[in-house]
Parts: sequence; structure tokens; C-alpha cells
Amino acid sequence: MRRAHGRLRGVVILKKKLIEVALPLEAINRESAREKSIRHGHPSTLHLWWARRPLAACRAVLFGSLVDDPSAHPDRFPTEEAQQEERERLFRIIEELVKWENTTNPEVLKAARAEILASCDGNPPPVLDPFCGGGSIPLEAQRLGLEAHASDLNPVAVLITKALIEIPPSGESWPGSSAGPSPTAWSPTPTARARARARPSSTCSGATRPAWS
Ligand SMILES: C[S@@+](CC[C@H](N)C(=O)[O-])C[C@H]1O[C@@H](n2cnc3c(N)ncnc32)[C@H](O)[C@@H]1O
Repeated sequence: MRRAHGRLRGVVILKKKLIEVALPLEAINRESAREKSIRHGHPSTLHLWWARRPLAACRAVLFGSLVDDPSAHPDRFPTEEAQQEERERLFRIIEELVKWENTTNPEVLKAARAEILASCDGNPPPVLDPFCGGGSIPLEAQRLGLEAHASDLNPVAVLITKALIEIPPSGESWPGSSAGPSPTAWSPTPTARARARARPSSTCSGATRPAWS
């Protein structure tokens, strides 16, 4: 996800990203652990996926991989103190971003998306998770306003991820359903209809418009 910063005698200079320097791990770990006891609104209540990664950790990793570390901008943050101060400001954003209660908070998501855009010259890269499992990474990419793509060897993983990132933002109803795009229309839990009609391919792509904000 590192974007070229410039070229010096043909050598591409990459901007250092926040994740390469520091992250507020205590807050990320705490919120990731808390997620295990969330019983309403979490994708794990739609369908269990045994290796699902915590959404808070995925959100923080995506943010930290896209947002520049302040040391990448010595013109704006010339001293170590100034860089650390800016890092602390970014940490505050992450600490809010990882809270379950803020997953649909427009102010918090707006602030995070603004930082990503600022670090990516207004054009963030699409995210591809080729081993998507339960879809945590593409779901969180979408929440951060990114174009998300996913694939998996396992068709069940593809079905879960499609239900998370592809069908809701498309406005389409679940295959075989005459109902509109309500959660009950695209949820894979009424499995008889899904089993009979859904034909998951091995890939999914989510629109930039997030399904969950
Ligand atoms: C650890 S899980 C991913 C978990 C996911 N990040 C989540 O949060 O739910 C790894 C996934 O890789 C998939 N996988 C393993 N080998 C693969 C391959 N060769 N091609 C595509 N997917 C593969 C498995 O089916 C499994 O769903």
C-alpha cells in the first residue's frame, strides 16, 4: 500500500507509513478482545468463521498502512518532537476508530477517511484480500471508504464475504429473493433460499460506498 513519494536518480522513494513506526496497540488489543462478547450487529452473528480476525484490528491495520508516518513529512514536522506530537494525534483517531460503538459513527469515520485521503493524494488504492475468510478485511476497507476486493478458495467464505461487502451496497436483493435489500433479504442465515439459489464465485468486490456506515 506504500505509494511512491518521488524519484531520485531513478530510485523510487516510498513514504513511510504509520504502521511501520508505531500504533496504539493497547487500545487496539483491548477493543479487539471486547469484540468477542458483542452479540448484536457483529458479522460473527450472521455466520461463524473460525479464523475471523477482530474487526478493530483490521480497521487499525488498514488505517496505519495507508496513513503516512509524520517522519515522511520533514517539511511539516522537522523535529522528532513535532513528529511524535503528530503521531499522538493520529493515535487519538485510531483509539476512537477501533471502538465498537464507533463503527457507524459518521464523525469518527469521516475523520479517519480524511486522514487516508490526505496521505494518498486523494486517491487511495483499492484493497485486495485474496484469503478473505469471513471478510473482516474487505468489510473494514469498505468502512474506511476504500474499494474492496476479496477472494477465497472456500466457497463458504466467499458467500459470507459477498453477504458482507457486495450485496448490501449494491442495493440488490439476495439471489432468489423478491424482497428489497434489507438485512433479512441478503443474510445467509435463511439458508434454504441461499443454498438453492446462490452460486458464489470465488471472488467478491465491494463498491466504494460502505455497507455499514
Ligand atoms: C486465516 S483465514 C482468513 C481470515 C480472515 N482474515 C477473517 O478475518 O475472517 C485464511 C483463509 O485463506 C483461505 N485460503 C487458504 N489457501 C488459499 C488459497 N490457496 N487461495 C485462496 N484462499 C486460500 C482459507 O480458505 C481461509 O478462508
